[in-house]
Amino acid sequence: MDKDKLQPKRVQDSMVTLARVMQPSDANPGGIVHGGSVMKEIDNAAGVVAIKHAGNLAVTASIDRIDFHNMIFIGEMITIKASINMAGRTSMEIGVRVDAEDLLKGTSRHVSSAYLTFVAVDKVTGKPLPVPELILVTDEEKRRNRGALKRKELRMVLKKFETSCKLDPTACINLDVGTGNTVSVS
Ligand SMILES: CC(C)(COP(=O)(O)OP(=O)(O)OC[C@H]1O[C@@H](n2cnc3c(N)ncnc32)[C@H](O)[C@@H]1OP(=O)(O)O)[C@@H](O)C(=O)NCCC(=O)NCCS
Repeated sequence: MDKDKLQPKRVQDSMVTLARVMQPSDANPGGIVHGGSVMKEIDNAAGVVAIKHAGNLAVTASIDRIDFHNMIFIGEMITIKASINMAGRTSMEIGVRVDAEDLLKGTSRHVSSAYLTFVAVDKVTGKPLPVPELILVTDEEKRRNRGALKRKELRMVLKKFETSCKLDPTACINLDVGTGNTVSVS
C-alpha cells in the first residue's frame, strides 16, 4: 500500500509505558542487573510502539547507543517509556527512557535512555513496508522530531562512511562529517 493511503497517526496513539520488577535471572551474582536485561526491555517496548504505529510487523534495524546512568538492583521496578519520534517512509525512530524505582524507599531515578530504528516489514516477504505519517501536536514532539531527522541524516552519513571504508580503507580517515563525503588530504 502507498504511504499516502495510510491514515496518519499521532504520537500518543502508539506510546507505551511498561513496567517490570527485576529478578535474580536479570542480574549478576552481585545483584546488579545486566545491561543486556535492560536492553531487552528497551527493545521490547520500542517494538510495541513501532508495531502500533505501523499497524504491521516491525523489526529492529539499529540501536544508536544506550547509556546506563545508574545501577539497577534485584527487586527494583523498572518503568520503560517509549514513543515514536519520527516516521520515515518505512522506518521509525523510537525514543525510550528507563527509570528504576526502589519499591521500599519509594525513590525513583533515571537509569537509561536509547534511540532505536524499526522498519515495518511484510510478514511473508520480509520486505520494508510504508508506515503512516506522524502527526506532531506538541512543541516537545516537534523538538524530538527535529532531533530524530538529524540523527537519521547522521546514520546515513555513517553508513556511507562505512561503505567507503570497506571499498577503500584510506578513505576512512578522510571523512568530512559535515557532508558525509570523503575528502582528499594533500
Ligand atoms: C531492517 C531491514 C528490514 C532493512 O531492509 P533493507 O532492504 O536494507 O531496507 P532499505 O535499504 O530499503 O531501507 C528501508 C528503511 O530502513 C532504514 N534502514 C535500513 N537500515 C538501517 C539501519 N541500519 N539503521 C537505521 N535505519 C535503517 C532506511 O533508512 C529506510 O528508511 P526509510 O524507508 O524510512 O527511508 C533488513 O535489514 C532486516 O530485515 N534486518 C534484520 C532485522 C532483524 O531481524 N532485527 C532483529 C535483529 S536481532
